[in-house]
Formats: sequence, structure tokens, C-alpha cells
Amino acid sequence: MHPGCEKGPRVIDLTDEHYQRLAKTYERNWADRPEYVAWMADRIMSWLKPAPDDRIADIGSGTGLFLSRLMETASARTPILCVDPSQHMLDLLPDDPRLSPVRATAEQIASGEVPVPYEHVDAFVFKEAIHHIKDIPETLRGLAERLAPRGRILIVTLPRRLEYPLFPEALDRFAGDQPEPADIAAAMRETGLATEHRSEEYAVTIDREQWIDLVRNQWMSVLSTFTAGEIDEGIETIRLLHPEHEITYTDRFAFIQGVKH
Ligand SMILES: C[S@@+](CC[C@H](N)C(=O)[O-])C[C@H]1O[C@@H](n2cnc3c(N)ncnc32)[C@H](O)[C@@H]1O
Repeated sequence: MHPGCEKGPRVIDLTDEHYQRLAKTYERNWADRPEYVAWMADRIMSWLKPAPDDRIADIGSGTGLFLSRLMETASARTPILCVDPSQHMLDLLPDDPRLSPVRATAEQIASGEVPVPYEHVDAFVFKEAIHHIKDIPETLRGLAERLAPRGRILIVTLPRRLEYPLFPEALDRFAGDQPEPADIAAAMRETGLATEHRSEEYAVTIDREQWIDLVRNQWMSVLSTFTAGEIDEGIETIRLLHPEHEITYTDRFAFIQGVKH
């Protein structure tokens, strides 16, 4: 969710720095929300409907937090390829023969610059990673060419306008740099894949102080673009806007899937 990371080498470094800093706390951020992690893992499973031994590549896998359900259909013979440029995130993948780390960007896989051990792939999954891709149409085209017949690309991403209880500057900055899901779906269609695009939502209830800790830890990349002073001011705004002990909001995700005929 780092807006600037789409715009050049220095900002790609910033993305890497962001995830290097975040890697240690990334899973802890979700530790108190196991129902959400289970819901998301379930939704991904339900969209992909993987067959046993499908060759799956999770692009921008991070620490593999949402892979629990997909791992049920994987085996050591056809492990899930966990593709991520951040070694710090890959180092936190569970030590499991059904997961195989590949240090690379989506662009490097799409262009063939970094080879994968499967000649064809049955499913590429992007869970909150597509916004890091510089040229989405080109990358999707490259990945679509690597799909097996009936293969699919599933993208899970946030809409531009979040309903998160953040301060207005953070919401605006996020909106300014997040790719529009409808544009991603159009790019997917352009590759020739039969494309479906729908929203899925999850109702979040979170203790206000826990939410504020997440904001202070700059858990979203967009927050890491604010100075410590700006984050403190933003937290004051959140406290004013949300005097309640428990905050509720809707987390809405775009699911975009393209299937090869
Ligand atoms: C918000 S995290 C999502 C991690 C994981 N999919 C999840 O949902 O927990 C985004 C991930 O994308 C990775 N990333 C950044 N640039 C990328 C690129 N060009 N290609 C693939 N992954 C990238 C980051 O290193 C990070 O691990």
C-alpha cells in the first residue's frame, strides 16, 4: 500500500525499507484478528477452487499469512511458489515443504527474467500486492502467457476510497495512488482472460487502542509516508473522530479473477 513505490527505483527502495521494518510486526498486527485471516483465506479458496496439486504462485506473498487454506491442496511435489522481492518477508514464511520461496518481483516472473520451476502455472494470486506493480497491463499480459489451460489470475485489492478510521490526509493520499479495481479488471480482460470482478466485504470491530497502535506502527505503507509528528497529529484526529472504545468499519475488497479458456 505504498503509493510512491510505483514510481521509480528510489521509491522501490522505500517499499523494501517499509517491509523490512514491518516484517517483524506484520503477523502480530493480525494476531488478534484470526477470524479475519480465516475469512480472507476462505474467500481466496472459494474464488480459486484449486484442484490438488495445482501449480500456484502467490505473488507478493509476504509472510504467507493468508495461505493456510491453499496449503491444504498443495504438496511437497507441487509447492506454492511464494514470490516476493523482500527477503525479510520471505524469511518469515512457515518452514513447510508445501511452500517454496522465490525472491523476485511480479515483473521479473512475468518477463521470464526470473524463471519458475513450473512450465505452466494453474493460478497466480495477488493478495494486496498489485498496487506495487509499475506496469499492471504488461505484467498481467506476461503472467497470462504462463498460465496452463483453465489457469487463472486472482487479484485481491483494496478500493481507492477506504472506509478505515484513519485521518483524512492518509485516506486521501491512499486514494491518490491506489490503482482503480475497474482499470485492473479492464487490463485483465485485455489479456484475453474471461474476467469477473466483484466486491467482498468484512465487518471489522477493533479495540480503539489496538487500532491506534497499528496506525502508530505505520502498518499500511501509506502511513510510512508521514513523519512521526504527522502520525501523532493523525492519531489525535482519530481519537477525536472515534471517542468509542471499539471501532467498527467495513473492510471492502475487490476480487478480480481472469480465467484462460
Ligand atoms: C501488503 S504486503 C501483502 C503480503 C501478503 N500477500 C498478505 O496479504 O499478507 C505486499 C507485499 O508485496 C511485496 N511486493 C512489493 N513490490 C512487489 C513487486 N513488484 N512484485 C511482487 N511483490 C511485491 C512486498 O514485499 C510485500 O511483501
